[in-house]
This record gives sequence, structure tokens and C-alpha cells, in this order.
Amino acid sequence: MKIDILTLFPEMFDGVFTESIIKRAREEGKVEINLVNFRDYTLDPHNKVDDTPYGGGSGMVLMCQPIFDCVKSLRTPDSKVILLTPSGKVYKQSMAYDLSHEKHLIIICGHYEGFDERIKSICDLELSIGDYVLTGGEIPAMILVDSITRLIDGVITLESHINDSFNNNLLDYPTYTKPRVYEGMEVPEVLLNGDHKKIEEYRLSEQIRITKENRPDLLDK
Ligand code: ADE
Repeated sequence: MKIDILTLFPEMFDGVFTESIIKRAREEGKVEINLVNFRDYTLDPHNKVDDTPYGGGSGMVLMCQPIFDCVKSLRTPDSKVILLTPSGKVYKQSMAYDLSHEKHLIIICGHYEGFDERIKSICDLELSIGDYVLTGGEIPAMILVDSITRLIDGVITLESHINDSFNNNLLDYPTYTKPRVYEGMEVPEVLLNGDHKKIEEYRLSEQIRITKENRPDLLDK
């Protein structure tokens, strides 16, 4: 998969994409990530990418031209263009699965007070990562790329994500490792006796208990 991220702040991504699983996925050619500074596409003599809002109001608004030209230069018939905005549809694990099968994602990070509404006309999808407002789309873009990359075939084993939280609308079950007792807290007996049917039953009941406690809304689905 190829992912182009349109941002005014490419340095913000240092570290996030150069460590751990994303680093390995890039090295193995499973994902190609390009950071594209859309300021490079502005035709403004002073390199401007934003201007004041029509009708008044605070802050600066990202202009159409640099983003339109940048997307035009990258887009192919296989591309899916995603705009990150707190007004978008709330991003979910099921969307991460769908997007992990795409060939090419173009992710646009909004910034400042907002962007010209007409930018939406060149996007296939508007996504928000949650009901809060960040300073820009860079951190949401990192979240999208991380959650999608780990689901690309061969990046991690299927076994590693088949039991992820949110699959089947249930949160993940609790896990333990050595030692058996730590500061008086014991590993549940059922996990120690090798009875796989009992272990499966225990894990499912724990998934239901934790989901009821923390995310009852998921059980309604
Ligand atoms: N930009 C600012 N806040 C955002 C959010 N919650 N999701 C996506 N993009 C954003």
C-alpha cells in the first residue's frame, strides 16, 4: 500500500514512522509512506497556503489551490482521498480493516482554524478520530496510518489481531505473564491448567464483563 500524507508539518511524523512495526513494514515494502508538504504546491508569490474567512470570523482558512494541485499530482484511479476533520465520521476499527485493503491512500491534514469547504469536493471520505478537537490533522493521520498498517497482510500475524478489542464489538480479554503471583495478585487459575475450552469460555466471559463495564454502547450493536 502507498500512503501520501499532505501536511504543513512533515517533521511532526519523525519517530512515529521510523520505529517498531511501522518501520519494519516500510523496510519490508509492505507500506510506502510519503510526507508531502502542500506548501510546495502554492502558486502564491509569498508561499501562502491560507487566508482570512469570507463573512468574518477568527483565524485563517486553508485555501483550495495548494491542496487541489497537490492531490491532482498524486491521485490515480486507485486512490482514496481522506480529509481529517473533527466534523468527519468517527473512525472505527472496522474502517481500519476496510482501508487496509486499499492500494493508495491520500490523507489530508487540516490545520489552523479550518479549510475551504470546497476541498471536500475532491475527497472520498471525511474522518474524525474522536469527539475532541486537536490543533491539526497530523496526530489523527499518525493514528490512521498506525491502525491501518498493522492490519496490512503480513505486517503482524493474523493471530495477533484476530482477538483485538472491537472485533465482534467486544473489548479484548485480560492477559497475564510471569510471575504467577506479583505483589499478592495472582494469575487466574483457569489460565494455568491447560484446559483450552475452559480458557476460551473464561476469556469470552471476561470480554463481555469488561465491555459491559467500559463500553456498554458496543453491546447494543
Ligand atoms: N483535526 C482536529 N481535530 C481532529 C479530530 N478529532 N479528528 C480528525 N482531525 C482533526
